[in-house]
Amino acid sequence: MSWWNEFAEHIQCDVRLSSLTWFGLGGPARWMFHPQNAHELSQFVRRAQDESVPWKILGDGANVLVRDDGFDGVVIRLDAPSFKAVEKNGGAVRVGAGVDLMPFSRECSREGLSGLEGMAGIPATIGGALKMNAGGRFGEFGRSVREATVMNRDGSLETWSKERLGFGYRRSAIADRIVIDATLEFHESDPQACGRMFDENFRFKKLTQPMADKSAGCIFKNPQGQSAGAMIDQCGLKGFRRNGARVSEQHANFIVADASGTSSDVCWLIDYVRDRVQREWSTELEVEIDIW
Ligand code: EPU
Repeated sequence: MSWWNEFAEHIQCDVRLSSLTWFGLGGPARWMFHPQNAHELSQFVRRAQDESVPWKILGDGANVLVRDDGFDGVVIRLDAPSFKAVEKNGGAVRVGAGVDLMPFSRECSREGLSGLEGMAGIPATIGGALKMNAGGRFGEFGRSVREATVMNRDGSLETWSKERLGFGYRRSAIADRIVIDATLEFHESDPQACGRMFDENFRFKKLTQPMADKSAGCIFKNPQGQSAGAMIDQCGLKGFRRNGARVSEQHANFIVADASGTSSDVCWLIDYVRDRVQREWSTELEVEIDIW
């Protein structure tokens, strides 16, 4: 009898993670669990804790690099309908952690709910966007958050205010807890203008970033007041390659992988780029992506 027997209906074994991440790289997860609701998730994390089995949440896989030997634990996906609920109440919207950020933001913009136009072109689930405070020059996700329901590692639930969520540049105080849902605040605005803004932001993103390639978005955080992409570019590293991974020619803070790429190639390149920037700019770049 396995420790996960009572959850067997929603457990898969040896699941490829490469097809679930935007990088398209990395080994399998030993198990994958699809909880049907927060109660079942809470019971599961308690059991996993009792059994000392490690687990991680995988959202849209857009900011994650899975190592070639995979993850020897449980990958949890909040893809059941109960994690995808959206309740609109004027300018306040409660949205489940498993909802896709992009279509949700587009829909809100087109309805004249203004706040998430800057999320155009950012692949994420609501849970991932909240945890990372996803964003760019057109805004950050955290700005629209009023509060969130958060599950602790012991399965208990809490409501966290915006202040407690502690948003900063690509970070929040979520750490290894689980976002269950978020309540967002929008300004009611002109639907046409709002929808147009979303579309323009998306167009700009497509022009400046290699969105058709396999990547995890920007690899490094921008050091204060500087652009990591510009620094890497000025080191002459655009197009620099390690086997099947290379620094994007379009934006130097992206590493893109082709069909023969491996996670080890990407990790090698990350170390190489960081060393070069350290030598040429005397600045230590901090990795933005989550490496499993
Ligand atoms: N630049 C170069 N060479 C490059 C890339 C950029 O010279 O290869 C220059 C640009 O010309 C510009 C400056 O660097 O003058 C800043 O570049 P960009 O506008 O592309 O913005 P960024 O700082 O590189 C940030 C976010 C992106 C976000 C964009 C646009 C970070 C690490 N990156 O990029 O976020 O999409 O602004 O809003 O904060 C991500 O976090 O994954 C990400 C892609």
